[in-house]
Amino acid sequence: MTFGSTWVYVLVGCICGSLVGASNLRAYYPPLWKESPGQLSEYRIEDGKYNINPWNYSERLGLYKILVKQTVRYFEKFAPGNEQNVLWGLAAFYGWQYHTGRLADPTHRTDCGYASGDHLCISVDSWWGDLNYFLSVIPFLAAIDSGVMELSSDITLQLPSKDQEKFCYDVSSCHSSFPEAMKVWNKLYQHMKLPSSTFDDLVKDVWEAHLSSLIGNFLSRSKYYSKLEADFQRDWALFVEYLTALRFPTTLMKVSEFVKGMPQRILVDEDTAFFIRDFTTFQNIVLHVLSFLHKMHEYTGLSEQLTVSNSSNPRLCAGNDSCCEFMITVVSGPEDTVLIWAFQTSDFFHLYIPSSSMALVPWGGGIDNNLWQSIRLTSLCFDQL
Ligand SMILES: *[C@@H]1O[C@H](CO)[C@@H](O)[C@H](O)[C@H]1NC(C)=O
Ligand SMILES: *[C@@H]1O[C@H](CO)[C@@H](O)[C@H](O)[C@H]1NC(C)=O
Ligand SMILES: *[C@@H]1O[C@H](CO)[C@@H](O)[C@H](O)[C@H]1NC(C)=O
Repeated sequence: MTFGSTWVYVLVGCICGSLVGASNLRAYYPPLWKESPGQLSEYRIEDGKYNINPWNYSERLGLYKILVKQTVRYFEKFAPGNEQNVLWGLAAFYGWQYHTGRLADPTHRTDCGYASGDHLCISVDSWWGDLNYFLSVIPFLAAIDSGVMELSSDITLQLPSKDQEKFCYDVSSCHSSFPEAMKVWNKLYQHMKLPSSTFDDLVKDVWEAHLSSLIGNFLSRSKYYSKLEADFQRDWALFVEYLTALRFPTTLMKVSEFVKGMPQRILVDEDTAFFIRDFTTFQNIVLHVLSFLHKMHEYTGLSEQLTVSNSSNPRLCAGNDSCCEFMITVVSGPEDTVLIWAFQTSDFFHLYIPSSSMALVPWGGGIDNNLWQSIRLTSLCFDQL
């Protein structure tokens, strides 16, 4: 293998140890967290039931807020202050959709979701808003149903103004329309209750549940977006499968750090892929890597995940505070292209090679040391990219 004129993309989630701490958690809350409902009694009651409008940003955010608050007891064994609650990730990602304008009406026919109009409104025409419906309503109703939160199930969700048949609105309608997703979320909740469940087990379950919630066909919404944004949506949906395989830890802090690499606004036709001036280098790299991944995937498909002991590559840790916990490396040479994913849990690196026909390049071998050195140097912290 030659790497004469090699280019390297490194997408790294090096979380600085010093950032870890429950006291800083608040800095990562999604927008309007404090103002949003944190218990069922903060919603309206109609006909003896809590009536929730999931097409209102705050009311949907409230579902996450109740979920993370009511499940704190299951995560205290991992860290104090709910820091390791694996349900945070969804809320963090939803906050990103809101502040980047992705929940707004993409047709621009209404002022739904725009700062100048009804900024809390979630448009039923928003691809992101529709997708997130099943990543908020299903986890919430399945949690209610599983008894993990010990809350009343007398809840009705308001349906959107159109395409009502695509959505479910209470525990029984979600069970009948999306039985598989309800079942997979329930599995996570049952595991949460077990004292023997580890953090890794729950991360694995939450990603499986996430995949099961990618339901409903909203491709019809793609036409409202620029080609670049529509491609990004497609690439993102694929990336979720990779994150699932990688078991990316879905804590508030890690997902929030990760989200900093996601496009900070909707992509428009004028954006030149992939150098967008008002984006950070890191955001440009993420876009590029996601698109590259899609091409690779079409070509090769998903393959095995390999787990190697960290002792084989001690060099990816630089001191106590900057171990790379998550890293995607794309190395391309004139003759070969190798995509290497690495994700470090406390004891292992999970290397992920999308194609079995590609060579696994051992850490520190095969590619000369200078290259690895440069990867490691780029791999400091998100903030420094
Ligand atoms: C959205 O929900 C919040 C919290 O319940 C409420 O204060 C606000 O008025 C709602 N906005 C709209 C437009 O319904
Ligand atoms: C790592 O932490 C230990 C104990 O906190 C300290 O003694 C050591 O100097 C640190 N090493 C580095 C490289 O910062
Ligand atoms: C991984 O590294 C840590 C810290 O250096 C060490 O304590 C642990 O035993 C290592 N795990 C394996 C499987 O080598």
